[in-house]
Amino acid sequence: MNEAILNLNGKDFTLPTIEGTEGEKAIDISSLRNISGYITLDPGYQNTGSCLSAITFIDGEKGILRYRGYPIEEIAENATFTETSFLLIYGHLPNDEERKAFSLRLTEASMIHKDMLRFFKGFPATSHPMAILSTMVNALSVFYPSFYSEDFMSNTFDEMATVLISKIRTIAAYSYKHSTGEPFSYPKHDLRYCGNFLNMMFDSPVKPYIVEPEVEKALNILLVLHADHEQNCSTSTVRLVGSSMVNLYASICAGICALWGPLHGGANQHVIEMLENIQNKGLSIRQCIDRAKDKNNKFRLFGFGHRVYKNYDPRAKILKKQCNIIFEKFSIKEPLVDIALELEEAVSRDDYFTERKLFPNVDFYSGILYRAMGIPTNMYPVMFAIGRMPGWIAQWKEMHDTIPFKIGRPRQIYTGSTLRNYSETEKEKKSSY
Ligand code: CMC
Repeated sequence: MNEAILNLNGKDFTLPTIEGTEGEKAIDISSLRNISGYITLDPGYQNTGSCLSAITFIDGEKGILRYRGYPIEEIAENATFTETSFLLIYGHLPNDEERKAFSLRLTEASMIHKDMLRFFKGFPATSHPMAILSTMVNALSVFYPSFYSEDFMSNTFDEMATVLISKIRTIAAYSYKHSTGEPFSYPKHDLRYCGNFLNMMFDSPVKPYIVEPEVEKALNILLVLHADHEQNCSTSTVRLVGSSMVNLYASICAGICALWGPLHGGANQHVIEMLENIQNKGLSIRQCIDRAKDKNNKFRLFGFGHRVYKNYDPRAKILKKQCNIIFEKFSIKEPLVDIALELEEAVSRDDYFTERKLFPNVDFYSGILYRAMGIPTNMYPVMFAIGRMPGWIAQWKEMHDTIPFKIGRPRQIYTGSTLRNYSETEKEKKSSY
């Protein structure tokens, strides 16, 4: 085993190093405080590995993403979202029997308890669907109380996983129906995962919805591309919250809330709003770029940059191609696409972005594709959450399968007041009146 020697004030401390299967290297500092009194400080966890994981591999420099070893390009082209979910959670592609059994379990779990349906009435029609989604997902733990089981990695895990993957699409579609005031459409057993979702979103008694195979395929690709992305903000939240041994629903609810923010899964909504601002408010591409570069302005170019990718995000590449397929097939004329292409082109020629290696990320083209499917802008982060569900579940499972199991509990460097005396401060306050 290789070792790292850390010299602190003239004293050497030996720390073990670890190498992953793809050659990723780490110094194991878990004993550092005990042996030296020091902790490490890394705001934003830019250089901190929080776990060992066998689920997803990313090489950000080369723009590589793999699920359980399979390249994302192959999975996106060939696998269904259901197969991908199975792969991420259980570690291998399902055989025929496993695939059928998993699909059947998903179909059987797709309805929402009728008492839960009443919750929707309590939300204003203008509610953000991410607020509804997180609330409803947490509420699942009330409707399935047996899942509070002490031994929570028992056989109830499989059932919890299916409930979540299946019901999230029903909850998502109903949150949209609630905003339009239309009646809910029940899930249909003869439709596949993506077709079922589209049908629940858009079918209405006066205008039956026909699932177009190209749209179903595009949605499948979108969900597959979002299915996991190793230790990002929401996934690490699911792990951290889950490490207190709270149930899976509550852990995933926390992940949904973390995903909502504009720097993470909320970026897709902000990308479209940014492109609409360029289109409707006469903001030029140059002004938009200049605002993003201005250090006194908090505005960022949404859909650009990534903590890990310092190359074109492979998911954005696939989505850009899908946009062309859908727009051509349905002869859609979408001015936002031209604006997006123009913006990408201008960014690629601007030193600020090239020096910082800021490329389009998955959220840059996903919103455009969702828009072409008729999905409203505030639902985009919800679409991200539907896609990310199997990844969150797989990471939660992997953490609980790991021995020894540790609650997540970072440390800090305290920078506040040193010891002071309450009575002395009170006396000083009185004397200054
Ligand atoms: N527009 C303008 N400047 C940017 C952008 C951007 N979109 N992204 C990064 N920068 C600059 C940043 O100001 C900093 O400049 P400097 O070195 O002069 O201080 C430098 O690039 C490095 O950025 P950072 O904020 O230190 O990088 P990070 O790894 O902490 O943040 C990020 C990553 C994704 C939060 C960030 O790139 C960003 O805010 N992008 C826009 C929001 C977005 O599209 N989010 C979706 C990410 S993909 C989906 C997902 O996985 O969540």
